[in-house]
Amino acid sequence: MPDVPTNIPTPDPSLKNSNQPQKIYLKDYTPPVFSVNHIDLNIELFDGADKKHATVTANLDMTRNTAGDLVLFGRELQLESITLNGKTLSESDYQLDQESLTIVNAPDNCQITTVVTIVPQTNTSLEGLYQAGEGADKMFCTQCEPEGFRKITFYPDRPDVLATFTTRIEADKTYPTLLANGNLIDQGELAGDRHFAVWQDPTKKPSYLFACVMADLDVLTDQYVTSEGREVLLELYAKHENIEQCHVGMQALKDSMKWDEDNYGRAYDLDRYMIVAVSQFNMGAMENKGLNIFNTACVLSSPETTTDRRNFNVKAVIAHEYFHNWTGNRITCRDWFQLCLKEGFTVFRDQSFSESLHSPAVQRIDDVATLRAAQFPEDASPLAHPPRPDHFVEINNFYTATVYEKGAEIVRMIANTLGKDKFRQGTDEYFRRYDGQAVTVEDLLSALSVADPSIETFIDWYTQPGTPTLSGYFTVENNRLALSLSQQTRQVAGYPAPKALPIPVKMAIFNRATGELAKEDLVLLKDDSQSFEFDGLFAKADFDPVVSLLRDFSAPVQLNFNYSNDDLAFLMQYETNGFNRWQAAQLLVNRILLQNADTDAYITALKASLPALSETDPMLAARLLDMPSERELGSAIQTDYDPSQVRARHQAVKKAVAVELKDIWQSAYAKLPISAYEDTAEAMGVRAWRNVVLDMALLAGVSDAKHWAITQYQQASCMTERLGALNAAVAHGLPQKAEWLADFYQRFHHDALVMDLWFGVQANDSQASVADIFALTSHQDFDINTPNRVRAVLGGLLAQPTKIWTQQGVEQYLSMMQDLDKRNPLLASRLIQGLSNWNALVADKKSMVKQALILSQANMSSKNVKETLQSMLNNL
Ligand code: TRP
Ligand code: ZN
Repeated sequence: MPDVPTNIPTPDPSLKNSNQPQKIYLKDYTPPVFSVNHIDLNIELFDGADKKHATVTANLDMTRNTAGDLVLFGRELQLESITLNGKTLSESDYQLDQESLTIVNAPDNCQITTVVTIVPQTNTSLEGLYQAGEGADKMFCTQCEPEGFRKITFYPDRPDVLATFTTRIEADKTYPTLLANGNLIDQGELAGDRHFAVWQDPTKKPSYLFACVMADLDVLTDQYVTSEGREVLLELYAKHENIEQCHVGMQALKDSMKWDEDNYGRAYDLDRYMIVAVSQFNMGAMENKGLNIFNTACVLSSPETTTDRRNFNVKAVIAHEYFHNWTGNRITCRDWFQLCLKEGFTVFRDQSFSESLHSPAVQRIDDVATLRAAQFPEDASPLAHPPRPDHFVEINNFYTATVYEKGAEIVRMIANTLGKDKFRQGTDEYFRRYDGQAVTVEDLLSALSVADPSIETFIDWYTQPGTPTLSGYFTVENNRLALSLSQQTRQVAGYPAPKALPIPVKMAIFNRATGELAKEDLVLLKDDSQSFEFDGLFAKADFDPVVSLLRDFSAPVQLNFNYSNDDLAFLMQYETNGFNRWQAAQLLVNRILLQNADTDAYITALKASLPALSETDPMLAARLLDMPSERELGSAIQTDYDPSQVRARHQAVKKAVAVELKDIWQSAYAKLPISAYEDTAEAMGVRAWRNVVLDMALLAGVSDAKHWAITQYQQASCMTERLGALNAAVAHGLPQKAEWLADFYQRFHHDALVMDLWFGVQANDSQASVADIFALTSHQDFDINTPNRVRAVLGGLLAQPTKIWTQQGVEQYLSMMQDLDKRNPLLASRLIQGLSNWNALVADKKSMVKQALILSQANMSSKNVKETLQSMLNNL
């Protein structure tokens, strides 16, 4: 029998049934009563047949800052002993509850030593120290952000307490890899086939950046010499069979290190940088100081197993976590309300890095597509919140598209308003002023404003929820063009009346008669409405203006300009800004899908653009055919949303486009023979375009297309091609569908990340019933404890609104959530957020879903899920 601890405080029953989890407010922030100068941590892992737990001894050197109690947070810890300045404390010397340990009247200088027992082997929450994987795959690792450290030891676990760490880890030699933050200062063998390692992190850091790993892993090593001459050892750890999939990540790491030196003047500050790949992980990756931990999906990459999109994402996530070393780690958050201080800024930085790797226009298109697909719906839902929230129950619920993606858009607006040099001046000032500190969004704005005080007005973007709508029109009088712009933001329940925000509008004016670009400008809309005048345009007699607004998506707003369909078709062909060509197509196709506008102008413009564009920029050509998904269309509808109507329209429009452009597909595919795999922007563009052509050709009934699919599946040089053919077979019900699914399984069943694709393809199959999709969760390779696998299946269901929004869909989904709520509350809560736009549904569906949500509420116990359900039901 494993010795499972018994004296974990049992929950107070009155708390468990409470439907009012406690809210924490930004306005209540107070500085920490004690600081920690240093922590000595000793983690002894036991994983034998009869002994499965870890003993954690922490020695805290603490100094008083202000009057008050000494509070250490701790959750699910079995306290074995505690001493204060050498004296063992008895139960009457402190107060212990489920969340904390409090010592009243503590002296000004405290040496506190605690010994606790934890059980990583049964920790399915993937927070704190946990076991990831089973059998030969088993390893132990940590996830501390935001509040996981308190599941390892008693500690003032808040981001504004910064300390140096010394970490000793001890385990059986079956776990040869023992890692923690910083530099390795000692290691050795112990009796009983055990060993240890001691790591010292010289940089003061908050506890959320702590990490350690005990595992049996291979390592890929490399070196980087920084601009300051520091020789940095780079190590990428993964399971033995995956180590060859680490080269892309390693190159991306070196590229990121160089990019941050070149673009922000930031060099790496330690002698070692480690990345560890873990198969069970709640999010993408984590920026722990000097020891990043990555979801395997965000670090492993090989042409045979990884699609171009995921390969590209690997580079972006590597960059993101590396960039956190300055924006997040060296300068961290004062409190968790400031999360977007590090996340928004860091996402902006990784997006800029990605722009440098391939086409900036396509990168911008993909980032805006993500914003529109994830953040706009969130901002329109009952879960709407500002990028910097002012209250929360469970901070894990605020790692959202609004904090990350809208947060990045705000920094981008500031960067564009300032221009390159002044923005660099501002970021230099930020790093100079706040290095080593825990700061706020106001601090960031104040540093970025050194060269231009008007930047401070962007604070309202951080504090106000809701997506602004930018409306406008123009008039021509006396040879002057007057552009009228106005803004409006919906009032979100619980927030003050919306204010006008500073909206930078990047724009251009074209001459319809010649297709020529006549003017480019950046105007700033500061008030509810304003007019901007342009003259000198009408010198040419044939001048007929077409205005193009919001180039490069210069602000995160809904654009409601009174373009005619012909204006949009013109811009699809003649805009010189690649992003705005795409945006024009999107505006037009949205009118067709949502307002039943006719397809003529759109199809004519596609016919005129695609043949040439597919030669010069096949990636952009592929993106030009993007259609908002059924799910995204659904979230653009505020009331009486009927999923089957949306689906019917979506299918009809796509089919009409495919048929009208049949000749294009017919001639395009022949020019796209499969060639050897290359990891370049050009080759990725060709593969993206080829897959779009294949899909459209099958839809249009091009007679050769079935053969193209077969050849592509059989001769695929990489996963993008093989999956493209498989997706086509599934989407179009080709006779090879079952055979290829079986073949795919045979080829790749040993590779978890490819199996996620296999599950995903089937969960996204429009022919599958709700029951078919849930049947995937009974497959022998399904594992509810692996978030990637759960998401692969449930993501497919969420992508099919006609299925999720049925009684069976919602009820089965919520019953899985009840199970997950006990195992992994973070994942459960995020998946329930996927149902947040329920309140826009048509009446009968709406009341059905509401009933199901209310019923499920009673069966949920985590703070995470309770807060989410409560917001979904109440914040309407
Ligand atoms: N800070 C991480 C990032 O953005 C993400 C993160 C936050 C996370 N909380 C987490 C990762 C919990 C895993 C689990 O890069
Ligand atoms: Zn991040």
